[in-house]
Amino acid sequence: MSLDRQKALNVAVDAAKAAGGLMKANLFAEKKTTSTTQYDIKLELDVECQRTIETILTREYPESFILGEEGDTGDEGASHRWVIDPIDGTVNFTYGIPHACVSIALQEKGSEAGTEAYRDGYQTTVAVIYDPFCEELWTATLGEPAALNGIPIQVSNRDRLEEALVSVGFSKNEQTLDQMLPVVNALAYEVRKIRTMGAAALAMVYVASGRFDGYVENNIRLWDIAAGGLIVESAGGVFWRRATEDPHTFQILASNRALHEKLASRCFNPDKMWGQE
Ligand code: IPD
Ligand code: CA
Repeated sequence: MSLDRQKALNVAVDAAKAAGGLMKANLFAEKKTTSTTQYDIKLELDVECQRTIETILTREYPESFILGEEGDTGDEGASHRWVIDPIDGTVNFTYGIPHACVSIALQEKGSEAGTEAYRDGYQTTVAVIYDPFCEELWTATLGEPAALNGIPIQVSNRDRLEEALVSVGFSKNEQTLDQMLPVVNALAYEVRKIRTMGAAALAMVYVASGRFDGYVENNIRLWDIAAGGLIVESAGGVFWRRATEDPHTFQILASNRALHEKLASRCFNPDKMWGQE
C-alpha cells in the first residue's frame, strides 16, 4: 500500500527542522570531532542530528528502513526507506560557516512517471532540504511542483554558458580531485563563474531555484543527492546520474535543462566512467 505522501512530507519537515535547530544552536559552539581525514571531518553532532531525525521518523513510521550518512537502521527489504543526510556541509559547519543543511528523502519501490528509479528499484517520492541559517525549506512530492518556503520554484532558463553559474563538488578523496580539477579548469574559462560552496544538497536546490545553472560532482553518495534530485526534477530541471561500482555512489549533473547538453559534453566522457579514465 502506498504511503500518504503529504503526511510523510509533514513528518520529514518536522524532523528536518528539529535537526536544523540543533545545527543553528551549535554553529559557533566548540564541536567534538569523531574522525578526520585530509579532506573530511565527522562530528558527534552529525550523529546527534541523525538520531533526532530517526526518532521523529520512526515514531510515525516504525517499519521504515533508514539509510543515513551516519548509519542504517531497520529492515533493508522494506518497501520504503528514508535516505538522510543529517548535516550536509559538515566541514562548513565545523568552521562556523552558515552554509549547511539537512536533507531527507522518502524512497518507495516503484516505477511511477516523473523520476527515474535507482538501480535497486527505489524512487524518491518525497524530498525535504532545510537550511536553518537562511530559514529556507525546499520541498517536493513526486508529480507536484517543487517549492521553497511553500512557493513554487523553477530552474533558470539561461542557455548560454557565458552567463552560467556552475557549482562543483570535490567529494572527499584525491582521486575525485584528479578527476574534477581538469573539468573545472576547462569550464572556468567558458562560464560566468564557478562556485564550490561545500554542501551538495544546497547546490542542487540552488539549481532548482534558478540560482545556479548546474551542479556537477563525481563520487557523491546517495544521501547527498536523493532529496535534491527530486527537487531539481520537480522544478523543471534535469537530474542526470550514473552509479559507480558501488550502487550508492554516483557521478551527477543537475542542470537547468537549457544547458544540460553543453554541460554534460564538458563534464563527461559518455563512453567511460570517470573512475576508469
Ligand atoms: C559532502 C558535501 C560536499 C560534497 C561531498 C559531500 P557532508 O557532504 O556535500 O560539498 O562535495 O561529496 O559528501 O560530508 O558535508 O555531509
Ligand atoms: Ca552530505
